[in-house]
Amino acid sequence: MERLCVIQADISRLDVDAVVNAANTTLMGGGGVDGAIHRAAGPGLLEECRGLSGCPTGEARITGGYLLPARHVIHTVGPVWSGGAAEEAGLLASCYTNSLRLAREHGLRSVAFPAISCGVYGYPLDRAARIAIREVRAFLEREALPERIFLVAFDEPTLAAYEEALG
Ligand code: APR
Repeated sequence: MERLCVIQADISRLDVDAVVNAANTTLMGGGGVDGAIHRAAGPGLLEECRGLSGCPTGEARITGGYLLPARHVIHTVGPVWSGGAAEEAGLLASCYTNSLRLAREHGLRSVAFPAISCGVYGYPLDRAARIAIREVRAFLEREALPERIFLVAFDEPTLAAYEEALG
């Protein structure tokens, strides 16, 4: 069974153990995938996030999934792209590894990631896709859980960037 899958989908509709949210440091919701996840999850998600007192860039926090098909949401905060000389690559890699570590610690079997930082935060798609594939592959080589990881593209260019990075 292929443990790393690239798919095109609306992440808020996926029936997985956890969807990863590309959040901001306040965890108080926003636009993009953050908005889609909060809209689908309902007010309970925001209520739980209020109790978390935010999340630093590169780190991850886990909550329930509420009205989502997913059982959990793993909130992670990607770096804002500012040219590549401000540790963006390391912070983006940490988003993947910290989210996967949380999933493993909670015994989750399936996790779906959006293209973290590739929207509002402006991270170049080809660079971000390579980091995502590299970090997920490295994690899967050394860990049995999660069993399956989905990299979810919302549009064609993102799907193409992931498929390019897979090769
Ligand atoms: N399903 C899957 N992917 C999605 C969805 C969705 N429903 N909606 C958007 N995306 C994709 C975007 O196309 C992009 O490729 O998620 C990727 C990340 O884009 P953003 O959601 O803009 O996230 P990011 O670039 O990390 O910026 C985070 O935006 O929404 C705010 O509160 C959030 O301040 C934070 C910032």
